[in-house]
Amino acid sequence: MRAIKTALFVLCTLPFLGMVMAAFGIAGLSLGANPVEALIHEAGLWGLRLLLLTLAVTPLRRLSGWNWLIRLRRMLGLFAFFYVFVHFLSYAVIDQRLALGPIVEDIIERPFITIGMAGLLLLLPLAVTSTNAMMRRLGRRWQQLHRAIYPIAILGVWHFWWQVKEDIREPLIYAAILAFLLGFRLWTRQRRRVAHAVQVRSASAAGLERAMSDLRASPAPRK
Ligand code: HEM
Repeated sequence: MRAIKTALFVLCTLPFLGMVMAAFGIAGLSLGANPVEALIHEAGLWGLRLLLLTLAVTPLRRLSGWNWLIRLRRMLGLFAFFYVFVHFLSYAVIDQRLALGPIVEDIIERPFITIGMAGLLLLLPLAVTSTNAMMRRLGRRWQQLHRAIYPIAILGVWHFWWQVKEDIREPLIYAAILAFLLGFRLWTRQRRRVAHAVQVRSASAAGLERAMSDLRASPAPRK
């Protein structure tokens, strides 16, 4: 498990390393004619990919039976946050030069940025509470809080879709993957509900049968 986690860590840092190398022109890499835009786009795309990958862990585990996959989920989620944060910093620090007025104006007036900001703000408490200590401290509330990953992914895809001008093919692919993951989640939840209802019904039927046979076995009351 340690080797798998190390490999995943290295894999998840590679895009960032690529971005840094391209920014500094190392090994012939380049961010192209518009480096700031390229940086914002690259970090945003990796943030979204890792968010979807985090969501894919449970379906993959269920379909493959590889329960160890669950132990990679936290790292994937934290890297998703990391890339979304780099995306936000590239926008706020490099593109807007920390000009608070224009940033606030953008957040209020450009709906796709409003949606993105909502995603980032929702992602923040998940990253902060991702430690084992927090998991223990929050108990059941931890799981409820971390279900926010679904609306966050919806906001992420929505944000992507809205900022595209003409060709919606790329956001459409992300939307389709998200729809599949959400559909899988709803389907398994429904299946679990039905299985639980059947279990309750058969348990109560068995209980009733036992009570009836007890009644039959017991001596008839005297008149
Ligand atoms: C969950 C949070 C977020 C996700 C998953 C996300 C993801 C993305 C993606 C995938 C793109 C498109 C990249 C491309 O076209 O190649 C994008 C673009 C962009 N995002 Fe985000 N983003 C998030 C939050 C934010 C926030 C908080 C801000 C700023 C306040 C922001 C500002 C931008 C900007 C300025 C663009 C480029 C728009 C353009 O080029 O016209 N995003 N984002």
